[in-house]
Amino acid sequence: MCGIVGAISERDVQGILLEGLRRLEYRGYDSAGMAVVDGGQAVQRAREVGKVAALVDAIEGNPLKGHLGIAHTRWATHGEPSRINAHPHMSGDRLAIVHNGIIENYQELRQELKTDGFAFTSQTDTEVVAHLIEKNYRELGDLYSAVKATIARLRGAYALAVVHADEPDHLVVCREGSPLVVGVGIGENFIASDQLALLPVTDRFMFLEEGDIADIRKDRIDIHDREGTPVERSTHRFEHGADSADKGEYRHFMLKEIHEQPRVIKATMEGRVTASRVLEQALGTDAENLLDHVRHVQIIACGTSYHAGLVARYWIEEVAGLPCSVEVASEFRYRKHVIQPDTLFLCISQSGETADTLAALRQAKQAGFRAALAICNVPGSSLVRESDLVIMTQAGPEIGVASTKAFTTQLTSLLIFTLALARHNGLSEEKESEIVQALHLVPGQVNDVLSLDGEIEELARGFMDKNHTLFLGRGSLYPVALEGALKLKEISYIHAEAYPAGELKHGPLALVDSEMPVVTVAPNNDLVEKLKSNLEEVRARGGELFVFADREAGVASEDSLHAMQLPPVHEITAPIVYTVPLQLLSYHVAVLKGTDVDQPRNLAKSVTVE
Ligand code: G6P
Repeated sequence: MCGIVGAISERDVQGILLEGLRRLEYRGYDSAGMAVVDGGQAVQRAREVGKVAALVDAIEGNPLKGHLGIAHTRWATHGEPSRINAHPHMSGDRLAIVHNGIIENYQELRQELKTDGFAFTSQTDTEVVAHLIEKNYRELGDLYSAVKATIARLRGAYALAVVHADEPDHLVVCREGSPLVVGVGIGENFIASDQLALLPVTDRFMFLEEGDIADIRKDRIDIHDREGTPVERSTHRFEHGADSADKGEYRHFMLKEIHEQPRVIKATMEGRVTASRVLEQALGTDAENLLDHVRHVQIIACGTSYHAGLVARYWIEEVAGLPCSVEVASEFRYRKHVIQPDTLFLCISQSGETADTLAALRQAKQAGFRAALAICNVPGSSLVRESDLVIMTQAGPEIGVASTKAFTTQLTSLLIFTLALARHNGLSEEKESEIVQALHLVPGQVNDVLSLDGEIEELARGFMDKNHTLFLGRGSLYPVALEGALKLKEISYIHAEAYPAGELKHGPLALVDSEMPVVTVAPNNDLVEKLKSNLEEVRARGGELFVFADREAGVASEDSLHAMQLPPVHEITAPIVYTVPLQLLSYHVAVLKGTDVDQPRNLAKSVTVE
């Protein structure tokens, strides 16, 4: 994902920009660049493919001097990673911009600007924006109006920062669907995609809202909303430890990471979806062409990531209408397989270093899959480097061995991928919009579930002295039950198994008695009535039920049934939301039992050996 930094100050800004870029490296990128305005004289620019270190080397003997500048780490979407495609992009030699996001209508704008005589030097969608601002600048005479007129014509997602050598006393920034924060200094101000980039220079931040455009000067920040009304955005102090390897106010990393989910799910959506559509170019330069050819998806993963793959199978088959197979990597790599033509090989891994997953990928490359897509949380990991396409989850570092926020951001990425794939397979715009809108509701719904923490802690007492637990789910909630069981056994050491609820009577029912709690997830989908019958089967055998149900599903607490009411959710996004109460349940059971929550016995966060 691209990263942006900008600064206006009394001092030279090169050092601030480079440090900001280094701090954005975690987002993953393939090239970096910066442009500095030199006292109203000119724009100097440097761009390099590869690491920020390559940019540092390139400008070492020839620093970019000036008090106003913008910088960028690029993650290619339109055009290969190359110096020419790296940002900042310029129109003429006086206007420079950096951009994070996707301009969907760039082809038509490019055509129009070519007719107007603008020459293009890159394959990016961003260069179109640079020329359009310059064109408007010539007509309107000031940068702020030029940016405003330009964004009125853009479709897609963007965060932009723009400088012009004729106006060396400010930069203009705006956002729509991609993140952008303003860092507030004393006699100097900054902007970035992420507050982490600016921590060496300030701890005070303003968060721009969708549609905002801001004029940033050394001593003033003027913001207008989408309608052009002047607005104030409040200044917040940075919450220390929010993203670093620090537990902050939480007792355990796992709890902190569970609570980070609304934010990181949102971050994973940023730049990849508009209010109603998926931006498939955000999946990579070749995504559009590739997705057109995919006829089958083979998913490979281990542990929690494997469960994310199992959920995705329901989505891919239901929403995209394509066959999907899912297998644990350690099995896949040691058997012969039949590869359907035009199969996309999809690896899911938080760490990107899991030995079995990597081995499966390396085999797949020999075996003739169409292409390899990785869903991963660690930029620069082996998996990311060795795959053709990558979707980075934006979970931030996950320290707790039991995976939580990595899982829900994997699901978010997988749903975005499914929608992009489905678009090539007849998904209507209406349906896409319905699901994207449902996805936008997920961070809020996860927050609602987090507010049930106290009640879930109470429920957890019912598990303290138990040796076994059964988890039940149906449809796409069956993998959620599997993940719930995995979490419980990982951190509380209680033996837990998950079953599709319909399988209960084919065996596990024999185990049910008052010593076997049964946990069930029950969103209000078309399987809920069948699930209720399964619950009756358990109650009739004296089993104790713990049901996480949609408050409209008609499941109420009574005798041996403990019902926890969850907010109504769309049936497609239900697996993401229903994962969270099961994470909290396992967490509280483990705390009550006094186990080592963050580093459970015998387990490792990243399994880099077979
Ligand atoms: C280990 C971890 C699990 C994780 C699995 C796969 O077993 O303890 O939490 O789900 O590896 O890891 P990956 O990094 O490939 O997602």
